[in-house]
Amino acid sequence: MKKITVLCLALATVLSTQAKKVPAYKDPEKSVEERVEDLLGLMTLEEKVLQLNQLTLGRNDNANNMADPVNDIPAGIGSLIYFDDNGELRNRVQRKAMEHSRLGIPVLFGYDVIHGFSTVYPISLGQACSWNPELVRQACAMAARETRASGIEWTFSPMIDVARDGRWGRIAEGYGEDPYTNAVFAAASVRGYQGDDPTDLSDPSHIAACLKHYVGYGASEAGRDYVYTEISDQTLWDTYLPPYQAGIEAGAATVMSCFNDISGTPGSANRHLLTEVLKERWGHDGFVVSDWGAIQQLRAQGVAADTKEAALKAFTAGVDMDMMNRCYDNHLAALVAEGKVSQAQVDEAVRRVLRVKFRLGLFDRPYTPTTNKAERFGLPEDIATAERLVAESIVLLKNEANTLPLTGTSRIAVIGPLSDSRWHLLGSWCAKGNADDVVSIKEGMEREFGGKSELLFARGCDFDGDDRSGFAEAVATAEKSDVVVLCLGEKRDWSGENASRSTIALPAIQEALAAEIAATGRPVVLVLTNGRPLDLSRLEPLVGAIVEFWQPGIRGGAPLAGILSGRINPSGKLSVTFPRSTGQIPIYYNHRQTARPYGGQGLYKDVPSTPLYEFGHGLSYTTFEYGDIVLSAAEFAHGEKFTAEVTVKNTGARDGLETVHWFVHDPVCTVSRPVKELKYFDKQFIPAGESRSFRFDIDPLRDLGFVKRSGERFLETGDYFIMVADKRIKITITD
Ligand code: GLC
Repeated sequence: MKKITVLCLALATVLSTQAKKVPAYKDPEKSVEERVEDLLGLMTLEEKVLQLNQLTLGRNDNANNMADPVNDIPAGIGSLIYFDDNGELRNRVQRKAMEHSRLGIPVLFGYDVIHGFSTVYPISLGQACSWNPELVRQACAMAARETRASGIEWTFSPMIDVARDGRWGRIAEGYGEDPYTNAVFAAASVRGYQGDDPTDLSDPSHIAACLKHYVGYGASEAGRDYVYTEISDQTLWDTYLPPYQAGIEAGAATVMSCFNDISGTPGSANRHLLTEVLKERWGHDGFVVSDWGAIQQLRAQGVAADTKEAALKAFTAGVDMDMMNRCYDNHLAALVAEGKVSQAQVDEAVRRVLRVKFRLGLFDRPYTPTTNKAERFGLPEDIATAERLVAESIVLLKNEANTLPLTGTSRIAVIGPLSDSRWHLLGSWCAKGNADDVVSIKEGMEREFGGKSELLFARGCDFDGDDRSGFAEAVATAEKSDVVVLCLGEKRDWSGENASRSTIALPAIQEALAAEIAATGRPVVLVLTNGRPLDLSRLEPLVGAIVEFWQPGIRGGAPLAGILSGRINPSGKLSVTFPRSTGQIPIYYNHRQTARPYGGQGLYKDVPSTPLYEFGHGLSYTTFEYGDIVLSAAEFAHGEKFTAEVTVKNTGARDGLETVHWFVHDPVCTVSRPVKELKYFDKQFIPAGESRSFRFDIDPLRDLGFVKRSGERFLETGDYFIMVADKRIKITITD
C-alpha cells in the first residue's frame, strides 16, 4: 500500500509540474498583454517574420490581383485570405498551425466582406443614403455572424474613403462625398463587426474590422485607379482623415494601407500617417496590413529600387503585415541582419498581430464549429434587415405630377436590361452573394402587383453596344401599357476596383431606348441600378419619376416594388452629388467659396454650374414643413455647449421617415471653410399630420471649430451659421 501511495504522490508531483509547464500564452486566465509578451519572448526571428505575412488559401476571387495559388503554405503563416464559405478547409490548415508548428500560433483568416457575406445588402454608397447608422450596424453584425461561422474572423471593411469623383469605380464602396457621413458609418460598421468592446472580439458572432484604404484613395486623379493623389495636409485633416479617426475611436482592430501616392509619398510608405498619426497620435493598438501588392508597387511608384527596399520603406513606415507582396517573407530577416530594421521594430509589429489574434480568441478556440448553410445563411431576421436597408437606401430623385406611386394602374410595362437581372443587382464586392438568392425587379413587381395589375415585360436592349433589335418589341410593349417602369443602369463590374470610366453617363444604347419609350407618350418611371452617381441630364426630361435603386444586394426587388406601389414611403437622401455632366467633376456640396460669388463669374459658360441633384436630395410621398431653428442661447462664451432644435411637421397624408441634416458655416476664419459642413443628422418617423422635434447638441470646438494642417482643432470667436433645410440662424462665439 505504502509503495502505491508514494507512486501516486510522485505521479501527482510530475503532473502538477507538467501542468505548471503550460506556457503563459496558452493560459486563458492570463491577460492578453501577458500572453502576447510571453509568446513573443519564445519566438524566433523566422517565426516572427512569418506572422507578418498574409498569403491566400484557395482560388483568389479578386480578379484584379494576379497571383499564383500558394501551395506550400508554411504552418506558422500569420494570415490567409480565405475564399470558401465554410470552415472545413480552413480548419484543416488551422490544425496544421496549431498542432504541427513549434508554438501553435493560430492563423488569422480574412476576406472582403464589404456589404454582406451571403446575405448581401446594398452597396455602401446606397447604405449611406438611408442615413440610418443603427440599421447599418445591424447589417454589419449580421455579416459578421455569417462570416465567422464560415471560417473567417477578419473582414477588409469598412471602406471609408471620401470620394467626389464618380468616374472612380470605388466610389461605390464608401459612404459618399462627406467626411462626417463616412465617419458616422465607419463607427457604425466597426461596432457592427466587432461589438462594443474592441478588447474582446472572441464572441463567435464578431469579426475584426479593417479601415481602408488609409488614406486619401478617393482623391485618385481623374477617377483613374491606383494613381497619384494630390492632397494637401490641410485637406488630409479636414476631409480624408476624419472617417479614420472615427473608426479608430470606435476600436477598429486593423487598418489597410492604401495604393495611392499621397503628394509624393505613397500611403504604404508614409511614416507620418501610418506611425506618427495613426499609432502615436491616435493610439491605434491593432495592426496595419498593406493592400494587395501595395508594398512591391512602391517600385512602380518610383520610391523603391527593388522589393527589398520596398519592404524596408513599408515596414519602417508602419505597415505591420504584408498582403501577398512576398516582400516581408523574402527580405525582413535580412534587413534585421543588416541592422536596417531592429528586432524591437519586428517585435512591435508582431505584438500588434498577436494582440488581435488573442482578442479574437483564436488561441483558445482556433477552429470553426461545423454548421450547415441553412444554419448560417438567409435567416428570416437577416433577410428582413437586408430588405429594410434596401427600402431606406432607395432615393426618389424625381416625381413629377405624382407619377408615383402606381396606385390603381391596370397595365405596367417593365422594360430594360436591368428588369430581370439578378447578378448585376449584387453590386461589386458581393463576397459569397449568390445570384440565385437575388429577387429581381421583375420578381419584385410580380409579387407586389400580381393579381392587381397586368405586367408586361421586355428587355429592350443590352447594357451597352449598338444592337437596337429589341427596341420594336419594347416600344410595342410600352404602347400596350398605362405606365412604363424603365430599368436602366450599370453592370456589376462597371464599379468597384479597377473600374474607372471616362464618363458617368449611361451608354448611348440605354439613352436611345429611353427616348423611344418616352416617345410613346406613356408616363415613365426610371429605376436606376448603379454603383456611382450618374449623368442623367438627357434622361431626366424624358421621364416623370426617377428612383435611385443603387445595387441592392440579394433582396432589392420587393422593397423597390413596395415603393413603386406606395406600400413603402421612400425616405432615402443622396450621400453623393449627381452632376449634370462628367465635365462638372469634381462637384460636391462642401466646396470652398469662390472669390467671385457674384455675376455668374467663374461659372461654366456652356452648362449650369449647379448639380442635377444635390447632396441630401431625396423626395417622399408626403411633405414635411420645417419650423425655425431655436437655440438654447444666442451668444456663447468660448467653448460653451448649446443646443439647436427644429420642429418638423408631416403636412402630407402619409406617414413618413424624415432625415434632418444639420450643417454649419463659418463665413470668416483663419483657414477658408466650406460653404456648408454636415455636422449631425437624425432620422425620425413622423405620422401624417404630426410634428417631431429634432435636436442637435452642439459642442462648439467639435462642431463649429475647424482643423489646421497640423491636425490641431481650433475654434475662433465670431459669427457662425447653423443651417437646416432652407433655414439658417446666426450665432456668435465671444471670448
Ligand atoms: C484589393 C483591394 C482591397 C482588398 C484587397 C484584398 O486590391 O484594393 O480593397 O481588400 O485587395 O482583396
